[in-house]
Amino acid sequence: MELLDKIKVNAKKFNKRIVLPEAWEERTLRAADQIIEEGLAQVYLTEKREVVLREAVKFGLKNIEKAVIIDPANHEKKESYANLMVELRKSKGMTKDEAMKLLDNPLYLATMMIKAGDADGEVAGANNATGDVLRPAFQYVKTLPGISVVSGAFLMIMPDKKWGDNGLMVFADCAVHPDPTDRELAEIAVCTAQTALAIAEMEPRVALLSFSTKGSAKHEMVDKVASATQIARQMAPQFLFDGELQADAAIVESIGRKKCPDSPIAGRANVLVFPSLEAGNIAYKLVQRLANAEAIGPVLQGMAAPINDLSRGCSVSDIVNLVAITANQAGAGK
Ligand code: ACO
Repeated sequence: MELLDKIKVNAKKFNKRIVLPEAWEERTLRAADQIIEEGLAQVYLTEKREVVLREAVKFGLKNIEKAVIIDPANHEKKESYANLMVELRKSKGMTKDEAMKLLDNPLYLATMMIKAGDADGEVAGANNATGDVLRPAFQYVKTLPGISVVSGAFLMIMPDKKWGDNGLMVFADCAVHPDPTDRELAEIAVCTAQTALAIAEMEPRVALLSFSTKGSAKHEMVDKVASATQIARQMAPQFLFDGELQADAAIVESIGRKKCPDSPIAGRANVLVFPSLEAGNIAYKLVQRLANAEAIGPVLQGMAAPINDLSRGCSVSDIVNLVAITANQAGAGK
């Protein structure tokens, strides 16, 4: 079965409550309609009921009435969410008035529904900048225990099946955290291994990449990756990590054997962790274009509950797929 089909089958099984906070937006509503039709998740829309239903009629959508529609202005739990916001951010000076105002913004309301246990995940960003989607998530949902940074992974599906697991690899961080420390890079490596296992059902073989293989170059950037590898091994001994490795030593068997014959993964890595956001973002875009790879993501990882950010150029099927992935993340978190 194709990866996305597998993800959809699992999403149906999990039947999670996923919030779409941009419910006045055509692509979001069309996606919501399809998600309900396919039974991929329970859809929660945070927008005025009359707006949602008017737009649904305009676009000829038949299933939207089956969504849970929540008007941010009149949500019955608004006050209790505001109290929770004050409790979580009183050290930052959050007041009840300010919290009530923020909750008029569907992105904050969605986040607080998740924080309070009234929803399982969120997909947004078709009409909002990354920072505006992520900030409420960072501030209220926060990270998993033992993890301090959120990062973004891509599932890379290569037409050339010789790479990774039959053409499938996972790359990170390609989307969020610009310049990780060694500890943060280790967290990104562990989260990416978990993503590979939970979403793609892979047995992760994780390479932490650099411009050096096992001390072939001396530089503080190399030291950071070597140290991150040690930390990742301590954090998650159940997974295979190695580094620092150059990209060819990580994925080409003959080079891996030659440059680091004792490595448990060299030459056959299926998860690549990049030393910085610059490297990861450039790499996934080059592989997507030059190797004609399909890039699915970013799948945000490390958050205490799954919240995923769309590109503003996304299509209806991008939204449907990301909701299915989010439902898988929510299901794996149980
Ligand atoms: N993980 C967890 N928490 C974080 C992270 C992170 N990676 N980054 C910031 N935070 C927290 C901060 O600690 C802070 O919390 P606090 O308010 O409790 O103190 C809060 O989030 C806000 O932090 P800021 O530093 O003010 O972050 P800001 O909101 O300005 O920016 C953002 C966050 C937007 C994610 C920023 O890191 C960024 O712009 N990253 C790059 C995103 C990007 O452009 N990616 C490339 C394009 S995506 C693509 O091509 C697929």
